[in-house]
Amino acid sequence: MKMDIPADLIRFLQRSTRVAALTGAGVSQESGLRTFRDSQDGIWKQYRPEDLASPEAFARDPKLVWDWYAWRREAIKGVRPNPGHHALVEIEKKIPEFTLITQNVDGLHRMAGSAKILELHGNIQRVRCSECGTFTETWGDDTESVPCCESCGGILRPDVVWFGENLPRAELEAAIQAARNCDVFFSIGTSGAVQPAASLAFAAHNKGAVLVEINLDPTPLTPKADFFLHGKSGEILPELVRMVWGTDGGL
Ligand code: OAD
Repeated sequence: MKMDIPADLIRFLQRSTRVAALTGAGVSQESGLRTFRDSQDGIWKQYRPEDLASPEAFARDPKLVWDWYAWRREAIKGVRPNPGHHALVEIEKKIPEFTLITQNVDGLHRMAGSAKILELHGNIQRVRCSECGTFTETWGDDTESVPCCESCGGILRPDVVWFGENLPRAELEAAIQAARNCDVFFSIGTSGAVQPAASLAFAAHNKGAVLVEINLDPTPLTPKADFFLHGKSGEILPELVRMVWGTDGGL
């Protein structure tokens, strides 16, 4: 599908050396994963975050929370990156300082081949002890109770950030740094509803970066965006790579 990428943006990206991109659940939508807040299909239409994605929920019913993440891991098993993920790999190759910041826990950016990724909300494929923090490489997902840590006996939990928890400090600091120092900041497939990730785009904007938003719907960020590219990231991003660098990189 032919997309309209503004000529000003194409010229600007051809000269840019520092670019940051924040992605959300929307970039994985075309891989077949559900987003969180879509009106029809969003995960949070069916479940309440506080029932499943909070330390309180885990304390109340660890097995319920464990099983929900085991179910999501299972759902991700057959899922592959889409052209939007692949286009971001191409952008990383073209821009000398490119920082990919994601709120997604699905690991699809890594699977696509992006090398440098700041995973702000963790990764669903990693598991650690809820007591001592030791990471575990192998565990059973279909056990009768939540599996325990081999070092201390504490129960295991997914290495994701739950509501009310802090983001990993090193990743957050690197993301803030990238947002404050970039020429162009992309906000792609995220509703901008969850802080502090959502504030990164504003931090970039305040420092004079050109703000580019790619989304199916307007968000609270849209009025500030220099360019709002309306549509699917899996269609817009590959077209943008073609228009800016004249390559499709096999997309
Ligand atoms: P949301 O579900 O809140 O938002 C998804 C966004 O992607 C919406 O703005 C959609 O319009 C847009 N979208 C959907 N399909 C798209 C497509 N194919 N191309 C482009 N845009 C598309 O997901 P996030 O913003 O990622 O946190 O949610 C942020 C955080 O809230 C998640 O990381 C998760 C959730 O609760 C935690 O669990 C801590």
